[in-house]
Amino acid sequence: MVMADGKPWPSVKVGNINQLSPGKPVSFNYPDATSPAWLLKLAEPAYEGAGPHRDIVAFSGICTHMGCPVAFKAGRFVCPCHFSMFDPARNGVPYQGLASDYLPQIMLRIDTASGDIHAERMSGLIWGRQNDAA
Ligand code: FES
Repeated sequence: MVMADGKPWPSVKVGNINQLSPGKPVSFNYPDATSPAWLLKLAEPAYEGAGPHRDIVAFSGICTHMGCPVAFKAGRFVCPCHFSMFDPARNGVPYQGLASDYLPQIMLRIDTASGDIHAERMSGLIWGRQNDAA
């Protein structure tokens, strides 16, 4: 798989399954240094979830309405600007507020031997971009 500019998606180590606790997100950047994102272990299996329980997910940290940073609260991503909410267990679907686009999900690969988690590509456009290249 390649990005819109023809370059391959970067593979970035973003954590280890032994360092994650349910409901406690870890920040990282993907697919470039200017793109904030969240890595998260949920309390339930998720769409495109990684790991033995399919409960590890990652998403862009930028709201798809007007680009404010989202935060994880009580099982969902919430935007403080206009109160959009996104469901991390269901592909980042917006279910309240002004956002109409899904929060872009970052696909993860877990090395079964080490438990290292790698971000490998993204589904959906980061707010403000016309394609998935930086
Ligand atoms: Fe997030 Fe408006 S910028 S709801």
